[in-house]
Amino acid sequence: MRTIIIAANWKMNTTPADAGALAAEIAAATEAPDVTRVICPPYVCLAPVRDALEGTGAAVGAQNVHVLDGGAFTGEISAAMLRGLVTWCIVGHSERRRDQCETDDLVGRKVARCLESGLRPIWCVGEQLDDREAGRAEEVVREQVSRALTAGGLANGELGKSIVIAYEPVWAIGTGRTARGADASAMADAIRGALEANGWTHEQAEAIPVLYGGSVTAASIGEFLAEPAIDGALVGGASLKPAEMAGIVARAATAAQARREAVRQP
Ligand code: PGA
Repeated sequence: MRTIIIAANWKMNTTPADAGALAAEIAAATEAPDVTRVICPPYVCLAPVRDALEGTGAAVGAQNVHVLDGGAFTGEISAAMLRGLVTWCIVGHSERRRDQCETDDLVGRKVARCLESGLRPIWCVGEQLDDREAGRAEEVVREQVSRALTAGGLANGELGKSIVIAYEPVWAIGTGRTARGADASAMADAIRGALEANGWTHEQAEAIPVLYGGSVTAASIGEFLAEPAIDGALVGGASLKPAEMAGIVARAATAAQARREAVRQP
């Protein structure tokens, strides 16, 4: 059974002075042993958030990592530098694909770098609105998965078993508009199918958690967790609000319990 994961992407919000207190407040409001909680603050807030989350069971993640381990790359942060600060890392977020021109090739190599460095990557994929409207959303996302797996040398599912994939339709991010649960579920199937098409076994592909991301709130998370193929959410705007996070994780805990019972009584 896959675990349910709720990951908070704080993006370019919070400061080292206030991030620790916010993280502590969210951790206290979201206690749920069956739900994996991850908070991804900006780099400069990682240390205070790590300290604030100690003993809470919530984990810390970065929002990005460089593909190489060191060198002349002004302003960049490597996986080696993140050691001791985080155990997770978002890779290939659509805002970085848009603003930093990250390609599937680079994203795949970053996913591989995370795995080599012992970080769990939350690898983001998702189509643009015109892809969805033209009926080619699944084809686009399958291609994103295939290209990145090839570039990262990740045709072996054993190597990639700690990967988490976040399906984030670009048109749903920060817009207040969410995908439909059924569409997200179909996409999760397409993503796992793409893993299999690239050399993973069926069992390996089925073991990978697929999250939904895009305007998730306490009010909308239920629709996604009602889909057995969806294993949680990557939350942006609402993840800065403790009450929203409390509602989201409470729904996730209910879903985790229901899934556990379903496994016990098939
Ligand atoms: P949002 O962001 O929840 O604000 O839409 C999600 C994300 O970008 O990961």
